Amino acid sequence: MAENIHPIFDRLVSRSEREQRLEQRSKVIWFTGLSGSGKSTIAQHLERFLFEQGFFAQVLDGDNIRSGINNNLGFSEVDRQENIRRIAEVSRLYVQSGIISINSFISPTIAIRQMAKEIIGAEDFIEIYVNAPLEVCEKRDVKGLYKKARSGAIKGFTGIDAPYEAPENPALEIKTDEVGVEEAVKRVFNHILPHIKL
Ligand code: ADX
Repeated sequence: MAENIHPIFDRLVSRSEREQRLEQRSKVIWFTGLSGSGKSTIAQHLERFLFEQGFFAQVLDGDNIRSGINNNLGFSEVDRQENIRRIAEVSRLYVQSGIISINSFISPTIAIRQMAKEIIGAEDFIEIYVNAPLEVCEKRDVKGLYKKARSGAIKGFTGIDAPYEAPENPALEIKTDEVGVEEAVKRVFNHILPHIKL
């Protein structure tokens, strides 16, 4: 099949031309953490903050992506891997377009995040661990899913009866039981600024 496919990347406007136009460098900010750890909240606030600062960024989020492009995927290991593979490919397109991609996915294993990093390219992949203890996430239970997982109504829920492996060496770790969203965004922004500044 691949032999009949002729990519035309070299004829397109280049990434660096796009980055010049947008006056930024494009990266993928990859948030990983348990459900309810605060990934999406930080991602949304970061997106707004970057926009106000003149950056051009776009959030990709588990629940959104899973209701659209990935609505045929569940939560088996294989499906989670396919979920993250497609997301990484989409993020790569964003980066190629000069856009900063803010990704908020549980992305539960080291291997899954390694795959994402390889697809995106290590130099464009900034991993941020949004860390809140399971008890805290469970107590928050924003979507009521931990309750369902405990009762057995949901099987294979991350942190309950499916694994979550914390990153060993994230670029940044945010403990959301210790810092509020505003401080979290500030820390993330301070970390990424040297990478996204032209
Ligand atoms: S991932 O594991 O494949 O990276 P993703 O971030 O896309 O997960 O989706 C996680 C969201 O799906 C959770 O925030 C939660 O709302 C919902 N969800 C539904 N079932 C599960 C499950 N079994 N495990 C984890 N999250 C689930």
